[in-house]
Amino acid sequence: MSDYKIFRTIYISKLDRFLYIYQGDVLCFWRANMQKAWFYEEYGSKEVLKLGDFPLPTPHHNQIIVQVRAAALNPIDFKRRQRPIFPSDFPVVPGCDMAGVVVAKGTGVTKFDLGDAVYGNIQDFNAPGKLKQLGTLAEFIVVEETLVAMKPQNLSFEEAASLPLAVQTAIEGFVTADFKEGQTIFIVGGAGGVGTLVVQLAKHFYNASYVVATCSSPKVEFVKKLGADKVIDYTNTKYEEIEEKFDFLYDTIGDCKNSFVVAKDEAPIIDITWPPSHPRAVYSSLTVSGENLEMLRPYLENGKLKAIIDPTGPYAFTDVIEAFRYLETGRARGKVVIASFPTENAPPYVSRELGSNQMPQRVALGTSVC
Ligand SMILES: NC(=O)c1ccc[n+]([C@@H]2O[C@H](COP(=O)([O-])OP(=O)(O)OC[C@H]3O[C@@H](n4cnc5c(N)ncnc54)[C@H](OP(=O)(O)O)[C@@H]3O)[C@@H](O)[C@H]2O)c1
Repeated sequence: MSDYKIFRTIYISKLDRFLYIYQGDVLCFWRANMQKAWFYEEYGSKEVLKLGDFPLPTPHHNQIIVQVRAAALNPIDFKRRQRPIFPSDFPVVPGCDMAGVVVAKGTGVTKFDLGDAVYGNIQDFNAPGKLKQLGTLAEFIVVEETLVAMKPQNLSFEEAASLPLAVQTAIEGFVTADFKEGQTIFIVGGAGGVGTLVVQLAKHFYNASYVVATCSSPKVEFVKKLGADKVIDYTNTKYEEIEEKFDFLYDTIGDCKNSFVVAKDEAPIIDITWPPSHPRAVYSSLTVSGENLEMLRPYLENGKLKAIIDPTGPYAFTDVIEAFRYLETGRARGKVVIASFPTENAPPYVSRELGSNQMPQRVALGTSVC
């Protein structure tokens, strides 16, 4: 606040939680230092989720604050809510994926400027210590600049938010298996959040010579359109009935105890669920970084790689519980996305760089000439 020399009038609107400050003839809108966020304070079903006021985050020197415009849900968000699989302190704001706009940054941030549209998975599961308490189902989040990337301009915020965790997982499976161009691949579960990206990456990024994927009857055409050369309806075909054998078996649903029969004798088998259900299967997790998102930028920009948003969404920010209910059915087609964040229609913000020990007591959201 010390930057501002002339304060003629200060008052806080109780209606919209904005603080209005006259600077000369300019009215600045400053938002009070609380935000809306979904959170839970105990493990349990989706009913433990509450929408309430939550403190605004503060950035350290290598961190940015992002005004979230869209977020995506992943199974880890409800698994983490159901039981203590990752060390975390309550209250927890769920959500890993987001796309939004940079509104404040620490002094050590070099990759991003205020106003940049960015996207990323803000939870680095491999980092030591606890996961962030403040996930992406909040109006503002704090994240290290290394974990995010510039949003490709041709993607909407909703499309960008749908990608990070799922695509980082999808890539890691190919890396772990040391997949080579021209090899054949069998994908168990081609229609889910991760599976839709595995199919597309196999065809358009890793140049597999033959891509076969499984899904249920209503989704066969959908998975073909993603690039699969052949789609197997698992409701009427057993793995044992498939005569071909594949160079790589990529199982996204944890069915390796049955699906392993389609893999060639020495072929890698990747399982992204824990624990892998067959002795030959190797568990693959994800590398959370902005770099792997940057690597995909040309493929996202030329449309070879598409963000797939489940047609029941995007869900409104106020409908997060319904969005979780749907994801937890295990029938999602692509990604379950949350949009319409409360601040979405706020006026353009003004902000400033923050030193490592400066607390952003208020995040400025806009100015208007009186
Ligand atoms: N290791 C990691 O780092 C990591 C990262 C992300 C996710 N995961 C895990 O990977 C799993 C998948 O994640 P996700 O985000 O893709 O989940 P998701 O979007 O909820 O997956 C839903 C999809 O699974 C398909 N499916 C269900 N049973 C199937 C079956 N028997 N055969 C073929 N497809 C089937 C469904 O298709 P139908 O309706 O056609 O059956 C649906 O489209 C989850 O367990 C998640 O926790 C692990």
